[in-house]
Amino acid sequence: MRITMVGTGYVGLVSGACFSEFGHDVICVDKDASKIARLENGEIPIFEPGLDALVESNAKAGRLSFTTDLAEAVPGSDAVFIAVGTPSRRGDGHADLQYVYAAAKEIGTLLEDYTVIVNKSTVPVGTGGEVEAIIRDVKPALEFDVASNPEFLREGSAIEDFMRPDRVVVGTSSERARDVLRRLYRPLSLRETPILFTERTTSELIKYAANSFLATKISFINEMADLCEAVGANVQEVAKGIGLDGRIGSKFLHAGPGYGGSCFPKDTLALLKTAEDTGMPLRIVNAVVDVNKMRKEALADRVKSMLDGSVSGKTVAVLGLTFKPNTDDMRDSPALDLIPALVNEGATVRACDPEGVEQARPMLPEITYCDDAYEAIDGADIVVLLTEWNAFRALDIPRIKSLLTAPKMLDLRNVYRADEMRDAGFTYQSIGRP
Ligand code: UGA
Repeated sequence: MRITMVGTGYVGLVSGACFSEFGHDVICVDKDASKIARLENGEIPIFEPGLDALVESNAKAGRLSFTTDLAEAVPGSDAVFIAVGTPSRRGDGHADLQYVYAAAKEIGTLLEDYTVIVNKSTVPVGTGGEVEAIIRDVKPALEFDVASNPEFLREGSAIEDFMRPDRVVVGTSSERARDVLRRLYRPLSLRETPILFTERTTSELIKYAANSFLATKISFINEMADLCEAVGANVQEVAKGIGLDGRIGSKFLHAGPGYGGSCFPKDTLALLKTAEDTGMPLRIVNAVVDVNKMRKEALADRVKSMLDGSVSGKTVAVLGLTFKPNTDDMRDSPALDLIPALVNEGATVRACDPEGVEQARPMLPEITYCDDAYEAIDGADIVVLLTEWNAFRALDIPRIKSLLTAPKMLDLRNVYRADEMRDAGFTYQSIGRP
């Protein structure tokens, strides 16, 4: 089958490459000519493990190509996916749909035959209807369907998530569109992946409900971690103890510095906006957002309390800057709360990150970037482990002790064991563990 993928951001590029791996012919379209030129040269604009090899092999096989010209792609496609950005609109937190609507209009002008337009961008409930109205307006006589097909890809394991998803959700009431989507995802149904067919608005809401529920699990366990600290309990064992209950599940119960990234913060806010607009407030999601915000804002105080109440004149080594490992993405990373707060209070910050430095530099210009953990720690008064990259999981503890002015570590990801660090002579604090 032939697919057009509009937008070569994270979702569009991963989905396009994976559909071509399924054997479909995929043309990825983006208005950014330099991006398309780079992709044509085999350069991948984002860091995602395995994506470069997938793009290379499918481009070589002639199943995956790139263009800036939508007119080259749309006519003759069985499905046109919209995978453009929906950033938070400045000021009100609503998802900004201008790119989705612009894409819909342009696609509409180019459609010649029955086609399914599939929304993969994360869009508020009702957007599919708007897209349909826009296209109907440009091509009143044409037969087409607009379906919703949200993505559930995690950065860092996006290819695995696409190839072996827990489920695929498709929202459309048209049997013809269902058939097209069924054929596109056929390789997955052979693996018995559940494909949930539902109505379009329900499908749109499933995406927000899924991300908001996952964010809820995180804020819940983070609050439990605070309670554990107050009563002397261990949050990792609490997570295990509740997670073994199949109704709760063990995933997404890692306490930490608060969730970040391009999805949870944006999508929880957008869902709250939708709820507010319909007069149906979502008190739980509201609390989840508040808990997360306050948690990130309180990170600097934890460092301060380990440095006798003041960071002024002190040097803090920060290991990890991205919002999670295996990505170069800095969006809404806890580093963006922690580091400016430390610098404002007079600390010197030395930081390192395996992939995030290029994105971090313009956002955090006031710090020293180091090549590795040991360089960052050299001469520091405390080490803060912020992102659990593999490179920070087996540090040479005696070596970092000798590099620090005093052996202090704040482990915001519970990577190390408290007893081992204590035995090594460290003042060590982690999240929700005695
Ligand atoms: C998230 C969802 O997991 C994907 O299913 C979804 O498709 C995607 O958003 C999206 O909407 O596009 P992602 O933002 O890449 O994926 O990252 P996650 O692995 O979900 O992590 C998000 C944040 O939660 C990170 O800051 C991470 O450190 C934090 N987290 C995650 C925790 O603090 N504890 C956990 O137990 C899990």
